[in-house]
This record gives sequence, C-alpha cells and structure tokens, in this order.
Amino acid sequence: MILKKVQDVELVNKRVLLRVDFNVALEYGHIKESFRIESARETVDFLLSKKAKVALVSHLGRPSGTINLGFSMEQLKGDVERILEKEIEFVPSCTGEEVKKGLDSLKSGRVLLLENTRFYEEEQLNDEKFAKALAKNFDIYVNDAFSVCHRSHASIVGVTKFLPSYAGLWMQKEVENLNRVKNNPDRPATAIIGGAKIETKLPIIKNFIESYDHVLVGGRVACEAIDRGLKFDEKVILAQDFAANRYDVGPETIKKFKEIVSQSKTIVWNGPLGKFEHPPYDEGTIGVLGAVIESGAFSLVGGGESIQVLEENNMMNKISFVSTGGGALLEYLSDGPMPGLDVLKFNPDNIEI
Ligand code: 3PG
Repeated sequence: MILKKVQDVELVNKRVLLRVDFNVALEYGHIKESFRIESARETVDFLLSKKAKVALVSHLGRPSGTINLGFSMEQLKGDVERILEKEIEFVPSCTGEEVKKGLDSLKSGRVLLLENTRFYEEEQLNDEKFAKALAKNFDIYVNDAFSVCHRSHASIVGVTKFLPSYAGLWMQKEVENLNRVKNNPDRPATAIIGGAKIETKLPIIKNFIESYDHVLVGGRVACEAIDRGLKFDEKVILAQDFAANRYDVGPETIKKFKEIVSQSKTIVWNGPLGKFEHPPYDEGTIGVLGAVIESGAFSLVGGGESIQVLEENNMMNKISFVSTGGGALLEYLSDGPMPGLDVLKFNPDNIEI
C-alpha cells in the first residue's frame, strides 16, 4: 500500500487539521486509558517542530448528531495536556469563525482541540458541505487515526476532497506493522481471538484460517460458537473447558493455548479470553498474555479491551506492537473496506510501506 506521508509536505506556517482518535472511555470526567492520546504525540511534536499550527479533531462516543456536553471534547483537555505535554486551547466548535479565531490567536507551542465532530449529524453522513466547512480554515489535513479508517465520515473521508491529505506518523506505523502480520508473518503464526459477538469475529477467523497456522478462540466468542454448533477448520482451537460459569477459559484451555503460543513466531491477539475486568476471571487472559510475552514472537495486540488489560498489567511495552484499532483492526486484517486509508493512497512518488 502506498500512503502519502506527512514527512513529504512543506509545513512551515501551515494550518494543519490533525484527525486523531480520542474516542476513549471516561470515568468521572477522566480518561480510563491513555494509549490513543499518546499515539498522537509523535505527529503533534513533528508538526510543531516544523512550525505548523495544529488543531486536533476527533469524535467522542456516539452522541447521534446532537450537542450533548456529556460527550464534549472539553472534558479531555486536562488529560490531553498532561499526556501530550502541551498547552491545549479548547474551541467549542469544529467549524466556522471560532476555529479561525482560535488559529489566528494560537501561541507558538500550543495546540487547538476542536469540539466533537459527532455533535453534527453531517459528520456520519459524510456530508460534503460539512466536510468543506471542516476544511475551510486549514491548508493541510493529516490523519493519524487508524482506528477510525473503517468509517466513511466527513472528518475522515469527505474532508480529503478539499485539502491536500497525508498519513501521520502513527498511521504509518499502524499500516506497516499490520502489513507485517498480514502479508509476511514469521512462522508458525498464531491468531488469538476473544471478546464477544461471534458475527463480528467470523470474517477475521476465516481469514486467519487461510493465512495462519493456528487460530485460538476463547472468551464469549468461543461460547457462542459452541452454543451455535459452529464447525471450523482443524486449525481452529476452540476453548475446550471453562471456569466459573464460563466467565473464563479453563485450565486445560490455558495449558493448550500456552503450548501453541510458546512455539509461535508471530502472534496476533484481539479480544480478552474471559471477563477480565472482574478478577479472578482474568486468569486465562493474563496467563496466555504472559506466554505471548515470554515466547519472544513478534506480537501484535489490538482492541479497546485488550489494551485495557495490557495497561492495567504493565504489559504495554512488552508487546511488539499495540494497535489502536478495534473495529478498524478487524476490518483491515480481514480485507474489509478502509475508506479512510483509501483517500490517503495513490501518489506514485511516495515510498511503499
Ligand atoms: C473505535 O473506538 O473503534 C473508533 O473510535 C470508532 O468508533 P465508532 O465505533 O463509534 O465509530
């Protein structure tokens, strides 16, 4: 895949609209996980070092096209300042005069944070007028939000019609690492699929059956597959026993999964193996994650819940690459549509990654 890269454009004094994914879980007005915000840091620093003026734009939650302050980006201001180590100016809109004023008066080293794009129903409709309004105050658009690229929304797709558009540094890393596990995995290659909603996981299981050596399935998806009597290829190993009312995989499954993992050279993981948020039902997830780390394999983990487990257990730095993508990761690895990436492709002068 060929992406247009932010490193290849002149940025001095340019006004840059940077699409990030700050769609993070909140508790009492504070974020529950910081990884998605941290992932934007390198691109923000890069843009500022090139003397660009930066406005961060994101959605938060699903406010269904209405202004609902429970979903305001303003709540994230303090956390974003702390994580990015920048002073942040909040603008209570993502289009129009307020954004222009914010950019005009923005002091060097500071960054704007625009209001939630999903306060406007036009965002999810990929409305052209709204996309044009988003673009209006800017010279360049940079997308660093891999985790939203499966959505055809105005701030991801429509806006690229009106601005020269590039992939941010994090976006490039996501694509590079996902391509590695997708197209060129070291063997044996193992996928671990957990979490819930079997119908959302079947396409990726099918893809991994074709391209990987083992597909280990635990969590709710294993229970759902068993209850529905689904039959899989022999590469698929469904959890064979469960603990505590099926809240976790059982000892035989943990043993079997660890055995396979310890011999693998590539491991991709999406979704917990049990109700990890209520210990002791995190034993399967944490035990198998420990084996992944010990195996020395190239490991890639993605999905909101999986990231939460890693953060809570200080395992983030022990995984080769942690993807911000949840739904986007599943789509990308199962060859689903990625409209947000399609609009960043195609310049033959750019280097293939
Ligand atoms: C995510 O959390 O996976 C992305 O931010 C997309 O959010 P959405 O599923 O609400 O579109």
